[in-house]
Amino acid sequence: MSRVLRLENLKAFYVLEAWGEKKVIQAVNNVTLEIPSNEVYGIAGESGCGKSTLLRTLFADIEPPLYVFSGRIHYRVDDHDIDVLSLKSAEKRKLRWTYISYIPQGSMSVFNPVKRIKSTFLDFLEDHVRGKVRENLLSLSVEHLRRVGLPPNVLDVYPHQLSGGMRQRVAIALATLLRPTVILADEPTTALDVVAQRAVLELLREVHHELGNTIVLVTHDMGIHAQITTRMAIMYAGRVVEEGPTKAIFASPLHPYTQYLIQALPHIGEKKPKEGIPGSPPSLLSPPLGCPFHPRCVFAFSLCREKVPSLEEFVPQHKVACFSRQRGECVFEGEKMRRYESKNMDDYRERG
Ligand SMILES: Nc1ncnc2c1ncn2[C@@H]1O[C@H](COP(=O)(O)OP(=O)(O)OP(=O)(O)O)[C@@H](O)[C@H]1O
Ligand SMILES: [Mg+2]
Repeated sequence: MSRVLRLENLKAFYVLEAWGEKKVIQAVNNVTLEIPSNEVYGIAGESGCGKSTLLRTLFADIEPPLYVFSGRIHYRVDDHDIDVLSLKSAEKRKLRWTYISYIPQGSMSVFNPVKRIKSTFLDFLEDHVRGKVRENLLSLSVEHLRRVGLPPNVLDVYPHQLSGGMRQRVAIALATLLRPTVILADEPTTALDVVAQRAVLELLREVHHELGNTIVLVTHDMGIHAQITTRMAIMYAGRVVEEGPTKAIFASPLHPYTQYLIQALPHIGEKKPKEGIPGSPPSLLSPPLGCPFHPRCVFAFSLCREKVPSLEEFVPQHKVACFSRQRGECVFEGEKMRRYESKNMDDYRERG
């Protein structure tokens, strides 16, 4: 498996100071991951678990109050290893957009609300494409909009005049202009209705197919992961608790948290409301000692309250950070947990 990106023991925390008191939010806590080339790689987890912070860090967008406390981020560019955290600003700028592009959460932030879409495209192209005249840049923008299924007159409107789905398409057109090797997309389908959601997913699939690149897709919606990602990581309280092929994760989730996430998905024709996960995620200001999930976990035992389990391969290609699971104890034999193992991914795919 050739990889495009490797993270090692990454700690990215927000440091806030108010009235002389320092607060540290442990948003990305000791994350180690390898992201293969040419895949749609998913990152899932509940709100506030650190997904967006992780993506920002991958884009080398590390500005106070966010600080990287330790770890490494390596991209593989044309057979060279690039250590992102050691790059100077000019080198980072070069890496961004041409090699890595980023669609931030809430597409509105990509655009200037008081400027027409045309200005955003021209500003972007003038920054990155050398030696082309303005008319050429405009026709390139039109061409790109056409590729994402939008008419040229979109260039003449203001961002607020577009629907959420159209705005997201424009953001994708912008992010793919320079044919980047890696696209980081943060919740690109959230807040869209089902039809617009499907269109955006279809577009991402086409882009992936055409560019043969890697898309790192962040969404809390497990249904979307089932539809489009091929491999994924599950985050909980700033840590990765499970990682593997999406199919394997849906067919036999290893971590109790993942089992809950999958169980909570609605199925076609179901009338009964779904059970939520009991309890709530911990504060990242003072996460509990030991495994961050232990206060909500029915399988927790003394070790879980004392030590943080590391992410280890449990079956080939499929990793989990859970002491019960790693010990091979049959803790998931309970009636409730066994139910999920028989579920088929197609159940979730059909949902949209
Ligand atoms: N700019 C910031 N300053 C301080 N704290 C922040 C900032 N951005 C995020 N946080 C905190 O960092 C933690 C992780 O937030 P993050 O936005 O990465 O989570 P997320 O998984 O993307 O959530 P969501 O699903 O709601 O988008 C949260 O506790 C959040 O409150
Ligand atoms: Mg987010």
